Amino acid sequence: MERATWLREIRRAAEERWDTRYAPSYDEHEGGSIDPVHRRFVTGVVEWTPPGGRVLDAACGTGRFFGIVLAAGRAVTGTDQSSGMLARAAEKHPEAVTEHVGLQELPYDAEFDAVICVDAMENVFPEDWPVVLANLRRAVRPGGEVYLTVERTPEPVLIGSFAEATAQGLPVVHGEMVARGGAGYHYYPPIGQVGAWIAGAGLDVVAEEEAPGEDDSYSYEHILLRRPAS
Ligand SMILES: C[S@@+](CC[C@H](N)C(=O)[O-])C[C@H]1O[C@@H](n2cnc3c(N)ncnc32)[C@H](O)[C@@H]1O
Repeated sequence: MERATWLREIRRAAEERWDTRYAPSYDEHEGGSIDPVHRRFVTGVVEWTPPGGRVLDAACGTGRFFGIVLAAGRAVTGTDQSSGMLARAAEKHPEAVTEHVGLQELPYDAEFDAVICVDAMENVFPEDWPVVLANLRRAVRPGGEVYLTVERTPEPVLIGSFAEATAQGLPVVHGEMVARGGAGYHYYPPIGQVGAWIAGAGLDVVAEEEAPGEDDSYSYEHILLRRPAS
Protein backbone atom coordinates (compact mmCIF):
# COMPACT_ATOMS: atom_id res chain seq x y z
CA MET A 1 0.00 0.00 0.00
CA GLU A 2 1.24 3.49 -0.81
CA ARG A 3 2.21 5.41 2.35
CA ALA A 4 0.45 8.70 1.53
CA THR A 5 -2.86 6.90 0.91
CA TRP A 6 -2.42 4.84 4.08
CA LEU A 7 -1.74 7.99 6.18
CA ARG A 8 -4.83 9.74 4.80
CA GLU A 9 -6.93 6.75 5.81
CA ILE A 10 -5.31 6.58 9.29
CA ARG A 11 -6.17 10.24 9.86
CA ARG A 12 -9.75 9.87 8.62
CA ALA A 13 -10.27 6.80 10.81
CA ALA A 14 -8.80 8.62 13.84
CA GLU A 15 -11.22 11.52 13.44
CA GLU A 16 -14.14 9.09 13.22
CA ARG A 17 -12.90 7.08 16.21
CA TRP A 18 -12.52 10.15 18.44
CA ASP A 19 -15.96 11.38 17.36
CA THR A 20 -17.88 8.19 17.93
CA ARG A 21 -15.96 5.88 20.23
CA TYR A 22 -14.04 8.15 22.62
CA ALA A 23 -15.93 11.46 22.83
CA PRO A 24 -18.93 10.10 24.76
CA SER A 25 -16.84 8.53 27.55
CA TYR A 26 -13.42 10.28 27.45
CA ASP A 27 -14.16 12.31 30.59
CA GLU A 28 -15.00 9.14 32.52
CA HIS A 29 -11.57 7.66 31.71
CA GLU A 30 -8.27 9.39 30.87
CA GLY A 31 -9.89 12.80 30.40
CA GLY A 32 -11.42 12.75 33.86
CA SER A 33 -8.30 13.58 35.82
CA ILE A 34 -5.10 15.58 35.48
CA ASP A 35 -1.88 14.15 36.85
CA PRO A 36 0.35 16.44 38.92
CA VAL A 37 3.06 16.97 36.27
CA HIS A 38 0.61 17.93 33.52
CA ARG A 39 -1.14 20.23 36.00
CA ARG A 40 2.12 21.88 37.06
CA PHE A 41 3.17 22.60 33.47
CA VAL A 42 -0.25 23.88 32.37
CA THR A 43 -0.63 26.04 35.49
CA GLY A 44 2.88 27.42 35.00
CA VAL A 45 2.15 28.40 31.39
CA VAL A 46 -1.21 29.94 32.28
CA GLU A 47 0.22 31.95 35.17
CA TRP A 48 3.05 33.10 32.93
CA THR A 49 0.57 34.71 30.52
CA PRO A 50 -0.63 38.22 31.44
CA PRO A 51 -4.03 38.53 33.16
CA GLY A 52 -6.68 38.60 30.44
CA GLY A 53 -4.20 36.93 28.06
CA ARG A 54 -5.13 34.36 25.43
CA VAL A 55 -4.24 30.67 25.49
CA LEU A 56 -4.64 28.26 22.57
CA ASP A 57 -5.31 24.65 23.60
CA ALA A 58 -4.43 22.80 20.37
CA ALA A 59 -5.97 19.31 20.11
CA CYS A 60 -7.94 20.22 23.25
CA GLY A 61 -10.21 17.16 23.19
CA THR A 62 -13.04 17.65 25.68
CA GLY A 63 -11.35 20.72 27.18
CA ARG A 64 -9.66 18.99 30.11
CA PHE A 65 -7.51 22.10 30.77
CA PHE A 66 -10.07 24.82 30.02
CA GLY A 67 -11.05 25.11 33.70
CA ILE A 68 -7.47 25.91 34.74
CA VAL A 69 -7.17 28.65 32.10
CA LEU A 70 -10.57 30.21 32.72
CA ALA A 71 -10.28 30.11 36.53
CA ALA A 72 -7.05 32.10 36.19
CA GLY A 73 -8.86 34.84 34.25
CA ARG A 74 -7.32 34.04 30.87
CA ALA A 75 -9.28 33.38 27.65
CA VAL A 76 -9.06 30.00 25.96
CA THR A 77 -9.53 28.87 22.37
CA GLY A 78 -9.66 25.10 21.87
CA THR A 79 -9.10 23.39 18.55
CA ASP A 80 -9.41 19.73 17.59
CA GLN A 81 -9.95 17.63 14.47
CA SER A 82 -12.78 15.76 16.24
CA SER A 83 -16.05 17.67 16.30
CA GLY A 84 -17.37 15.12 18.82
CA MET A 85 -14.61 15.94 21.32
CA LEU A 86 -15.06 19.68 20.71
CA ALA A 87 -18.81 19.45 21.30
CA ARG A 88 -18.16 18.01 24.77
CA ALA A 89 -15.65 20.82 25.48
CA ALA A 90 -18.14 23.50 24.40
CA GLU A 91 -20.93 21.95 26.49
CA LYS A 92 -18.79 22.07 29.62
CA HIS A 93 -17.28 25.52 28.98
CA PRO A 94 -19.57 27.68 26.83
CA GLU A 95 -17.32 30.70 27.51
CA ALA A 96 -14.44 29.07 25.59
CA VAL A 97 -14.04 29.50 21.83
CA THR A 98 -13.85 26.15 20.00
CA GLU A 99 -12.78 25.63 16.40
CA HIS A 100 -12.82 22.45 14.34
CA VAL A 101 -9.33 22.44 12.86
CA GLY A 102 -6.44 19.97 12.81
CA LEU A 103 -2.95 20.58 14.16
CA GLN A 104 -1.68 20.39 10.57
CA GLU A 105 -4.03 23.19 9.47
CA LEU A 106 -3.85 25.67 12.38
CA PRO A 107 -4.29 29.11 10.78
CA TYR A 108 -3.28 31.44 13.64
CA ASP A 109 -0.62 34.11 13.40
CA ALA A 110 0.75 35.54 16.70
CA GLU A 111 -2.76 35.55 18.18
CA PHE A 112 -1.98 33.88 21.49
CA ASP A 113 0.24 34.53 24.51
CA ALA A 114 0.72 30.81 25.00
CA VAL A 115 -0.13 27.50 23.35
CA ILE A 116 -0.60 24.11 25.00
CA CYS A 117 -0.75 20.84 23.07
CA VAL A 118 -1.18 17.98 25.52
CA ASP A 119 -1.23 14.22 24.89
CA ALA A 120 -1.84 14.70 21.18
CA MET A 121 1.49 14.78 19.32
CA GLU A 122 1.56 10.95 19.34
CA ASN A 123 -1.19 11.17 16.70
CA VAL A 124 1.03 13.19 14.36
CA PHE A 125 2.86 11.40 11.52
CA PRO A 126 6.63 11.94 11.24
CA GLU A 127 6.06 13.76 7.93
CA ASP A 128 3.76 16.25 9.71
CA TRP A 129 5.86 17.05 12.79
CA PRO A 130 7.69 20.01 11.18
CA VAL A 131 4.39 21.43 9.85
CA VAL A 132 2.67 21.13 13.24
CA LEU A 133 5.60 22.66 15.15
CA ALA A 134 5.71 25.55 12.65
CA ASN A 135 1.95 26.07 13.15
CA LEU A 136 2.27 26.07 16.96
CA ARG A 137 5.17 28.55 16.74
CA ARG A 138 3.29 30.86 14.38
CA ALA A 139 0.17 30.79 16.61
CA VAL A 140 2.01 32.24 19.59
CA ARG A 141 3.26 35.83 19.71
CA PRO A 142 7.02 36.49 19.69
CA GLY A 143 8.26 35.77 23.22
CA GLY A 144 5.23 33.49 23.91
CA GLU A 145 5.35 29.98 25.40
CA VAL A 146 4.44 26.61 23.91
CA TYR A 147 3.95 23.54 26.13
CA LEU A 148 3.71 20.13 24.55
CA THR A 149 3.95 16.53 25.65
CA VAL A 150 5.68 13.78 23.71
CA GLU A 151 4.63 10.22 24.51
CA ARG A 152 7.47 7.69 24.82
CA THR A 153 7.50 3.90 24.93
CA PRO A 154 10.39 1.44 25.38
CA GLU A 155 12.47 0.70 22.26
CA PRO A 156 11.88 -3.12 22.37
CA VAL A 157 8.14 -2.46 22.10
CA LEU A 158 8.72 -0.30 19.02
CA ILE A 159 10.99 -2.92 17.44
CA GLY A 160 8.29 -5.58 17.93
CA SER A 161 5.51 -3.38 16.57
CA PHE A 162 7.55 -2.41 13.53
CA ALA A 163 8.26 -6.07 12.72
CA GLU A 164 4.59 -7.00 13.13
CA ALA A 165 3.32 -4.11 10.98
CA THR A 166 5.82 -4.72 8.18
CA ALA A 167 4.89 -8.43 8.22
CA GLN A 168 1.30 -7.31 7.56
CA GLY A 169 2.54 -5.28 4.58
CA LEU A 170 1.84 -1.90 6.18
CA PRO A 171 4.05 1.01 4.98
CA VAL A 172 5.17 1.97 8.52
CA VAL A 173 8.38 3.66 9.60
CA HIS A 174 10.17 2.78 12.84
CA GLY A 175 8.44 4.39 15.82
CA GLU A 176 4.92 3.95 14.48
CA MET A 177 2.54 1.60 16.31
CA VAL A 178 -0.62 0.48 14.60
CA ALA A 179 -3.26 -1.53 16.41
CA ARG A 180 -4.56 -4.59 14.63
CA GLY A 181 -7.49 -3.85 12.34
CA GLY A 182 -6.47 -0.18 12.13
CA ALA A 183 -8.03 0.54 15.56
CA GLY A 184 -5.35 3.01 16.54
CA TYR A 185 -2.13 4.76 15.54
CA HIS A 186 0.65 6.33 17.59
CA TYR A 187 4.03 7.62 16.53
CA TYR A 188 6.90 7.70 19.04
CA PRO A 189 9.75 9.76 17.60
CA PRO A 190 13.28 9.41 19.00
CA ILE A 191 13.67 12.24 21.49
CA GLY A 192 16.80 13.50 19.67
CA GLN A 193 14.71 13.84 16.51
CA VAL A 194 12.12 15.84 18.45
CA GLY A 195 14.91 18.19 19.59
CA ALA A 196 16.08 18.63 16.00
CA TRP A 197 12.53 19.37 14.78
CA ILE A 198 12.04 21.87 17.63
CA ALA A 199 15.28 23.66 16.75
CA GLY A 200 14.33 23.58 13.05
CA ALA A 201 11.01 25.22 13.87
CA GLY A 202 12.82 28.09 15.60
CA LEU A 203 11.63 27.35 19.14
CA ASP A 204 13.87 27.50 22.23
CA VAL A 205 13.63 24.83 24.94
CA VAL A 206 12.93 26.42 28.35
CA ALA A 207 12.35 23.25 30.40
CA GLU A 208 12.07 19.52 29.80
CA GLU A 209 11.07 16.68 32.13
CA GLU A 210 10.23 13.02 31.66
CA ALA A 211 7.47 11.62 33.87
CA PRO A 212 5.70 8.24 33.92
CA GLY A 213 2.33 7.67 32.27
CA GLU A 214 -0.47 5.83 34.02
CA ASP A 215 1.43 2.52 33.76
CA ASP A 216 4.94 1.30 32.93
CA SER A 217 4.26 0.93 29.21
CA TYR A 218 4.74 4.62 28.44
CA SER A 219 5.94 7.96 29.74
CA TYR A 220 5.63 11.59 28.74
CA GLU A 221 8.35 14.05 27.90
CA HIS A 222 6.99 17.42 29.02
CA ILE A 223 8.58 20.18 26.96
CA LEU A 224 8.22 23.91 27.55
CA LEU A 225 9.27 26.04 24.59
CA ARG A 226 9.53 29.72 23.81
CA ARG A 227 9.22 31.54 20.52
CA PRO A 228 12.17 33.94 20.46
CA ALA A 229 11.13 37.55 21.11
CA SER A 230 12.57 38.73 17.81
C1 LIG B 1 -5.72 11.94 24.17
S1 LIG B 1 -6.72 13.21 23.51
C2 LIG B 1 -6.05 14.62 24.39
C3 LIG B 1 -7.04 15.74 24.46
C4 LIG B 1 -6.62 16.88 25.40
N1 LIG B 1 -5.46 17.59 24.91
C5 LIG B 1 -6.33 16.31 26.77
O1 LIG B 1 -5.17 16.32 27.19
O2 LIG B 1 -7.29 15.85 27.42
C6 LIG B 1 -6.06 13.43 21.86
C7 LIG B 1 -6.85 14.47 21.06
O3 LIG B 1 -6.10 14.77 19.90
C8 LIG B 1 -7.02 14.96 18.84
N2 LIG B 1 -6.28 14.82 17.59
C9 LIG B 1 -5.68 13.71 17.08
N3 LIG B 1 -5.06 14.01 15.93
C10 LIG B 1 -5.26 15.32 15.70
C11 LIG B 1 -4.88 16.22 14.68
N4 LIG B 1 -4.13 15.81 13.65
N5 LIG B 1 -5.27 17.50 14.77
C12 LIG B 1 -6.03 17.91 15.81
N6 LIG B 1 -6.44 17.12 16.79
C13 LIG B 1 -6.05 15.85 16.76
C14 LIG B 1 -8.08 13.91 19.08
O4 LIG B 1 -9.25 14.21 18.36
C15 LIG B 1 -8.21 14.00 20.58
O5 LIG B 1 -9.19 14.94 20.95
